[in-house]
Amino acid sequence: MSTILLAGGAGYIGSHTALELLNAGYDVIVVDNYANSSPEAIHRVERLTGNNIALYEADVKDTEALSRIFANHSIDAVIHFAGLKAVGESVQKPIMYYRNNIDTTLALLEVMNSYNVKNIIFSSSATVYGEENKVPFAETMPRGACTNPYGWTKSMMEQIFEDAAKADDKLSVVLLRYFNPIGSHESGMIGEDPQGIPNNLMPYVTQVAVGKRECLTIFGKDYPTPDGTCRRDYIHVVDLAKGHVKAIDYILAQDKCCEIFNLGTGVPYSVTEIVETFERVNNIKVNHVYGPRRAGDLAELYANADKAFNILGWKTEKTLEDMCRDSWNWQKNNPNGYRN
Ligand code: NAD
Ligand code: UFG
Repeated sequence: MSTILLAGGAGYIGSHTALELLNAGYDVIVVDNYANSSPEAIHRVERLTGNNIALYEADVKDTEALSRIFANHSIDAVIHFAGLKAVGESVQKPIMYYRNNIDTTLALLEVMNSYNVKNIIFSSSATVYGEENKVPFAETMPRGACTNPYGWTKSMMEQIFEDAAKADDKLSVVLLRYFNPIGSHESGMIGEDPQGIPNNLMPYVTQVAVGKRECLTIFGKDYPTPDGTCRRDYIHVVDLAKGHVKAIDYILAQDKCCEIFNLGTGVPYSVTEIVETFERVNNIKVNHVYGPRRAGDLAELYANADKAFNILGWKTEKTLEDMCRDSWNWQKNNPNGYRN
């Protein structure tokens, strides 16, 4: 049985991936400093799967703490989720974002090298395509200019991984570019648990629906899209997690690789369509108003998802209705997230 270390594995995408990896027969270890998460997420994954997960509280920038974990386990591959991800905050605190996101990456690569661990999968983002490329975004396109420091950390980290893979003929790297993950596991036991005011659309929608926030502002109604609101490639987090299992199967089967895969559905939906679908599927009103555009938003952003299908044999299975239903199921069962 192969053992996978999830750095930042207590977070939203990491916890769902832990669950799918365990279901697929992998052994899972998690390291997280809980900067944006709670150990409760991992305890719930243990309850859902009946498995034990070795859980370490540590900062992934800390090479000594990482070394102790690598010394304790025989690790076959690492998935690097650990990062700060709030776009607006990254504009206010760029140094904190560069320090955290880049140092976690360098520390992992250094310690992996010391312990001869040669497989790593990285959580990148569609944001690296920038403004220059045309939708649908394909992996063959060059990285573009990002609109914020968060995006630049992703772009820089991709470059770091590519350079490291070039220099080490044994190091395999898979860069996964996520589009817009929403939804939660169908049990409603794990989900997205943002601290403070949500930055992203779906947690804002669910918090309005549950009565924690008064009203959603839809940012902009004058975009060059069919209904004037921005369109995104929303992907169910369980589909996304299964994409990681496929990427682990793939990387463990290669002698050597350095590949990029989009993880998206290839189908864009507008903000208005999200709100209307959420209301219809869950039979609940979401108060909303239309406001000005948010700085830095692109009109449309969606994937060409062919490469992940052709090479990993992965495609999404869940519908927008599933995403809206499962997001609400998590929120209504856990109005205060993991702080119940
Ligand atoms: P999340 O905040 O829920 O998970 C990130 C985890 O990393 C958290 O548990 C946090 O506590 C941990 N972490 C952060 N810095 C750390 C450090 N120095 N040491 C140890 N742990 C640390 O976010 P998520 O949505 O699960 O995202 C996971 C990854 O995917 C991130 O790298 C994010 O940038 C990337 N990503 C997310 C999205 C999205 O929309 N959610 C889109 C594209 C890419
Ligand atoms: N939106 C609103 N009101 C809100 C929140 C969002 O109208 O209160 C709109 C945005 O304007 C955008 C859409 O909903 O049109 C989606 O916004 P999100 O903030 O949920 O997602 P983004 O597409 O802006 O950003 C996401 C990730 C980033 C990543 C980026 C590009 O959060 O990590 O996709 O991949 F960098």
